[in-house]
Amino acid sequence: MPSTPNTMERENFATKFGVLVAMAGSAIGLGNLWRFPYLVGSYGGAAFIFVYIICVFVLCLPILFSEVIVGRRSHANAFGAFKKLAPGSRWKWLGALSVLTPLIIVSYYSVVGGWGVEYFFKSVTFEFTDGMTQSQLGTLFSSFTSSVWAPLMGHTIFLLMTALIVISGVKSGIEKFGKVMMPMLFVLIVIIAVRAVTLPGAAEGLAYLFKPDFSKIDASVCSAALGQAFFSLSLGMGTMLTYGSYVSKKENIAASSSYTAISDTIFALLASCAIMPAVFAFGLDPEEGPSLVFETLPFIFSNMSLGAFVAILFFLALIVAALTSSISLYEVVVAYLVEEKHYTRKGAAILVFVVAWVLGILCSLSFGPLSEFRIFGQTVFNLFDKLSANFLMPLGGLLIVIFVGWVMKKSDVIDEFTNGGSLKANVRVSGFVYFLIRYICPLAVLAVFLTALIF
Ligand code: TRP
Repeated sequence: MPSTPNTMERENFATKFGVLVAMAGSAIGLGNLWRFPYLVGSYGGAAFIFVYIICVFVLCLPILFSEVIVGRRSHANAFGAFKKLAPGSRWKWLGALSVLTPLIIVSYYSVVGGWGVEYFFKSVTFEFTDGMTQSQLGTLFSSFTSSVWAPLMGHTIFLLMTALIVISGVKSGIEKFGKVMMPMLFVLIVIIAVRAVTLPGAAEGLAYLFKPDFSKIDASVCSAALGQAFFSLSLGMGTMLTYGSYVSKKENIAASSSYTAISDTIFALLASCAIMPAVFAFGLDPEEGPSLVFETLPFIFSNMSLGAFVAILFFLALIVAALTSSISLYEVVVAYLVEEKHYTRKGAAILVFVVAWVLGILCSLSFGPLSEFRIFGQTVFNLFDKLSANFLMPLGGLLIVIFVGWVMKKSDVIDEFTNGGSLKANVRVSGFVYFLIRYICPLAVLAVFLTALIF
């Protein structure tokens, strides 16, 4: 499969809007629709949201800048970038980490995406229309996930769709898909949120989301919020680095990164507004956990007027959001194989498909036949989820800010951030941003990380 090297003909995103939809498309995904609402529920509502927002804008935004800076400076894949910017050093191992871990995430991400595919089919065939009880829906979900074939079908379909978009390339695959799908996604989620917020009894849910009880903030809330901020902004895995490498030298990377963080946060809040008011209106338990979206929501859909249609819209939105994120994970590994190992794009995509498909099968079966198979006491799925969000992402994020703040030359970093001094607004904030990257981010991430390890 290896062919001629083609680093010379690297693609770039064609337009400013293209850069934004690709980055926001990566950020907005299952993290917003599935993970964020259930964490909000498990960690006490508004207090968690408050800490989360601080994590996003104070700690993670500078980390996002850092990843994009490394990507655009080097114009290389996640592995090649460190080889180029710090030749002959051990930093290439951070590159290796940044290429290997997306492979882990994409495999388990595709399993959850596959559940979305299955639930989309269920909603299209109007399975949620007949006033089912919550326990029926709970049984439906657990018997579905613990079965062998149906979830594997979903996983395969989802991963195949991802592969096909990635094969089409950066401009005609990733950018085009995002340009159509991201605006549609926003419209969909707004429609659903409006429906949920106007349910009788929704006010209690809104209060739960927006009136913080600060006494609920503790170490576990902080570490969950930081982990979620990493997950939601696609940090610590070479994803934003790789996308950054497709951004042309003319673009304002500080602006695209900030818009990404803002739209990602707005989307997470909209998703919570679509879910929590409905949970309260129906007197359900917000602390349901990972199954919240798949058990509680279908219950709500099957018990509200127009629910059958809202269900179709919701699961469509879920699949679309998940796809624009999984292509970003997939692209990291493909870019590496193409540029460093001289694969063709198609060959690389096929290889990634095979590996992620097999790993995903293990994840999927860990809800059924492999549920007794434990590594460090965890099922394969939980191990992949915890290992990546609570360990590998913060570690990757920590190392990248150390790289940008302490290894790269300050003048190079500022030059990249301000387009050689021509972006005046960026020049004005660059000193502060550099200070955050050099001192505050590494210390804060380290502190939260260690606290999480100890407790
Ligand atoms: N951010 C995506 C979401 O919220 C998931 C994701 C895509 C991701 N690429 C990533 C998470 C890279 C961590 C690292 O669903």
